[in-house]
This record gives sequence, structure tokens and C-alpha cells, in this order.
Amino acid sequence: HLHPSDIQQMERGSVVRRSDCRAKGGAPGFKVAILGAAGGIGQSLSLLLKMNPLVSVLHLYDVVNAPGVTADISHMDTAAVVRGFLGQPQLDSALTGMDLVIIPAGVPRKPGMSRDDLFNINAGIVKTLCEGITRCCPHAVVNLISNPVNSTIPIAAEVFKKAGTFDPKMLLGVTKLDVVRANTFVAEVLGIDPREVEVPVVGGHAGVTILPLLSQVKPPCSFTSEEINYLTDRIQNGGTEVVEAKAGAGSATLSMVGPTAFQNICFFPHIGQAFAAAKFADACLRGLRGDAGIVECAFVASQVTELPFFASKVRLGRGGAEEILPLGLLNEYERAGLEKAKKELSESIKKGVTFITK
Ligand code: NAI
Repeated sequence: HLHPSDIQQMERGSVVRRSDCRAKGGAPGFKVAILGAAGGIGQSLSLLLKMNPLVSVLHLYDVVNAPGVTADISHMDTAAVVRGFLGQPQLDSALTGMDLVIIPAGVPRKPGMSRDDLFNINAGIVKTLCEGITRCCPHAVVNLISNPVNSTIPIAAEVFKKAGTFDPKMLLGVTKLDVVRANTFVAEVLGIDPREVEVPVVGGHAGVTILPLLSQVKPPCSFTSEEINYLTDRIQNGGTEVVEAKAGAGSATLSMVGPTAFQNICFFPHIGQAFAAAKFADACLRGLRGDAGIVECAFVASQVTELPFFASKVRLGRGGAEEILPLGLLNEYERAGLEKAKKELSESIKKGVTFITK
């Protein structure tokens, strides 16, 4: 059967045809929506998920450019059926029936900004999108990428609580990028293939709240104190490194202010971030399929510390983050880092909660 949005797109002369509306190959798969699909992360993420054999239906939603991205991605000869949704009136159609909702919507940082500086704009965007989830797919797994994740996850949780649909296991803040970076930088220091390295990164997703546990790296290894300082600093500030490196090409526009200008200066697709988000989404889908032993770091509702949310290793399954794994033994350096992380996290969490409950 044709989906209403397919018909609308056909009426607009878009490229979607009847044959695109069947589940190609008949393979069982999951329905995934990307909210903010036309953005820097969203476009690359859409590409990567269209390549994922576990995805049977891919809904691409944005407030701009969604039809163009959809037309482009839909030509890829992989199984997932792609549908585009533009603007708030189409939000509910984009979300209905979804198994996994990935949210990279919102404004990104520009040089000199912290993730927290994004709060005022992104908090409202996340609230609106999560209200849509409560209406249309309250049992979906949610991967929230929009920064500041340390505050947007508490916002999402409060929206879901208000609607009576909150399942703490289904709401995951994406910190995979910190793990991907940590694996890469540690592998460089050790001189080995990054695919063989596993670094747990706990805490949150901003500055000192990003806490790599270098004492628990796999394969087991040791670092000098200089290496620990270098690695911790580089992992915590990896995002800033990217924001600053990309700014060079857009210097003339950097002096412009306002959210629209922020979007205009983002010439570069955020491929690294999208790669990490796609890996994390794939892990969630394998968990939903019932695969055993899927463990990833994520920022979730947690009792690992006294804070209501914390990033740590979680075991993914049919019910989302089915088990929150303990932090394990920390050394003195990591214990000091944990105290610093908790202090900042606590404030960020409060800020998110207050945004909804005030
Ligand atoms: P971008 O500006 O390139 O893309 C954002 C997209 O969101 C745009 O297409 C925009 O139209 C869309 N959008 C804005 N308001 C919306 C709404 N109400 N509904 C749906 N879509 C809406 O930004 P980029 O680089 O893709 O970053 C997106 C977010 O991800 C930012 O908040 C950024 O800070 C965050 N981020 C998170 C990371 C993580 O590891 N968790 C890593 C890097 C960025």
C-alpha cells in the first residue's frame, strides 16, 4: 500500500514511485526515523542507515530540505524504503509506527561556544520532537544526539514523564562519538589498529563530564602520566577540535550571529559524528533483534551514581538499555575526574529538568 506521504510526494512530481513503497527483498527489518535529517549529521546518518540491512523503512524529517535529501538517498539500491517529511505538520506521520527514532536536530556549536550555549535553542526543539514521540511512537527506542546531551536527555525524560510514557530503558543519549574518538586516539598512542581498541567513556557528553576510563582499556595496557593527561584532554576536547578546524573555511561568515547564520556556516557534513551515531543505532537495532552481548556506552537514566542520569556501559536488548553496567574499579586519577564530572553534570541535569517543570 502507498503511504500518504508517498502519494503526496508523487503528486508533487517527486521521485518516489509505487515500487519504492514495497519492502524490497522482503527482509524483516526495523522502521527508523531521523529527525533533523537534512543537517550535517543528519545527511550522512541517513546515508549510513540506508545502507544498514536491519532497516526496512527510513523516515527522513526536517524543517528544511527534507524532500531533496530524501530524493537523493532514495536512489540508493539498498532495501530500506525511504520517505521524506517536511515541517511540523508532517512530524506525526514521520513518527507513526517507528521502532527507533534518532534525533540530530538543532543548532551545532560554532568556535568559542560550549555545548551548553546551545541550550536555549535546542531545548525547545527537543521538547517539540519528544512530544511527537509520545503521541505517535511512545514505545520506540530514542537515540538523542542534539546537544547539550547532558541537558537534552533530562528534557526528553520530563516530556515523556509528563505524558506518562517514560520508559527509562528506551531513552539513550548518544555518547558513542566520545568512545570512537577515545579508541582512535588510544590506538594512535599504542600504535595498533583502532578496531582492536575498546575504551569505556563514562559520565556525560561535554568537557570534563567526558570521562575516559584509561585504566580499563582493552587490550590491557598502561600509559605514562603524560600520555594519560594528553589522551584525557584530547578525548574531552575532541568536539572543540573539530568545530575549530572546520571554522577556517567559513571565517567570513563566522561573525554573523543568530541561529540561521549558524546553520549557514555549516558547510561540512559531520561525517565523523554520523559514523558514530550510525554505529550506535546499529547496536540498538541488533539489540532490538535480540542479539546477545551488545554493550555500548550511553547517557541514560541510571543508579550507577547518585545522579539521575549518567553515561556508562549498557547492555542493549529488545527492551532498549536492559542493563546498566557498573563503572568497575577506578584509579585515583579517574576518581578525581568523576567528582569533577558529577559536579558539572548535576547542574546540566537540573537545567534540563527545570526547563520542563518550571
Ligand atoms: P546542522 O545545523 O547541520 O543540522 C541540524 C538540522 O536540524 C538542520 O537540518 C535543521 O534544519 C534541523 N532542525 C532544526 N530545527 C528542527 C526542528 N524543530 N525539527 C527538525 N529538525 C530541525 O547541525 P549538526 O552539525 O548536524 O548537529 C546537530 C546537533 O547534534 C547539534 O545540536 C550538535 O551540537 C549535536 N551534536 C551531537 C554530537 C553527539 O555526539 N551527541 C556530536 C556532534 C554534534
